[in-house]
Amino acid sequence: MTSEPAPRNASNPTATAVTVIGLGPMGRALAGALMTTGQRVTVWNRTPGKADDLAARGAVLAGSPAEALGQAQMAVLCVVDDDAVASVVEQAAGSANLKGLTLVNLTADSPARTRTLADQLGTHGITLLDGAIMTPAAAIGTEATRILYSGPRQAYDEHRDLLAAFGGSAYYLGDGVAAAAIYDVALLSLFWTSIAGLTQALALTRAEGLQPEEFTPHAAAMSQLVTDLLPGLAADFAAERYSGSNSATIDSLAASLNHLRSAFTHSGVTTDVLDAISSVVENAVHAGYGADAPIRLADTLQR
Ligand SMILES: NC(=O)c1ccc[n+]([C@@H]2O[C@H](COP(=O)([O-])OP(=O)(O)OC[C@H]3O[C@@H](n4cnc5c(N)ncnc54)[C@H](OP(=O)(O)O)[C@@H]3O)[C@@H](O)[C@H]2O)c1
Repeated sequence: MTSEPAPRNASNPTATAVTVIGLGPMGRALAGALMTTGQRVTVWNRTPGKADDLAARGAVLAGSPAEALGQAQMAVLCVVDDDAVASVVEQAAGSANLKGLTLVNLTADSPARTRTLADQLGTHGITLLDGAIMTPAAAIGTEATRILYSGPRQAYDEHRDLLAAFGGSAYYLGDGVAAAAIYDVALLSLFWTSIAGLTQALALTRAEGLQPEEFTPHAAAMSQLVTDLLPGLAADFAAERYSGSNSATIDSLAASLNHLRSAFTHSGVTTDVLDAISSVVENAVHAGYGADAPIRLADTLQR
């Protein structure tokens, strides 16, 4: 026995092709998808007992992070946040040589934390390929999966065939390791503010005695309008074209929101969601941007 970390040996016939760490709903789905495509999978989870179904299907249960990562060429981590990723890696680094490992991190966290994680892993000779899963666990292994990746191109190219086991669409966003995290935060913000708008709308339909289902096609048409407007608005924002002359202005939006809030209040529905938007709009008006197009709000938020 030696206390030195064991050398990584790519030709070791007992080496496991891929390790999955973190067996919450998403980690279990990822491990299962890899097994479905015939990969030899080693799994580890902080709390034992979550790998029983995977073990029954033939997954190797590692006894520690070092055992799970020590012989892997590629490891998928899917835990609660990047601090947990770092904690698992530091535990493993105490007794295993992790140099040369590619860590595919499908854990959601901030762009800033992703950058510091890449630096931290780099001190152990680990390459970080970061990923953001844009679909629920139930979609993994199906055509509906959508995963964004960012980090060194070589790492993505080397492992893309293995990652194809997750199904659906994979998008490589480039060398900047934080790109997937940036898109993740931005897209989830778009998703949840849209859902928040829907909750405000549905509350009104029920308060006024309408069938929410009858409202659905009209809500879908409105969502489609947003989809149609999106490329032009993004282009205007990129070019800093904020003229309100050919579109609604922030002043007119402020007036419309006042009208909407009053209408909701009269129907007995609170306006909490609309109040948040109104606050952004009012701040822009006070800053002197009332005559600009609403896309100027993105600029005021950044400041
Ligand atoms: N679930 C989804 O549909 C979905 C969709 C898109 C993205 N994601 C992302 O996927 C990631 C995992 O999500 P999830 O839903 O599977 O589960 P989760 O509840 O976000 O995370 C649970 C996992 O993290 C582990 N964990 C927490 N703290 C840890 C620590 N300090 N050290 C080691 N392991 C630790 C847990 O281990 P224990 O069992 O020991 O507690 C468990 O395996 C998250 O970043 C989430 O945002 C999930």
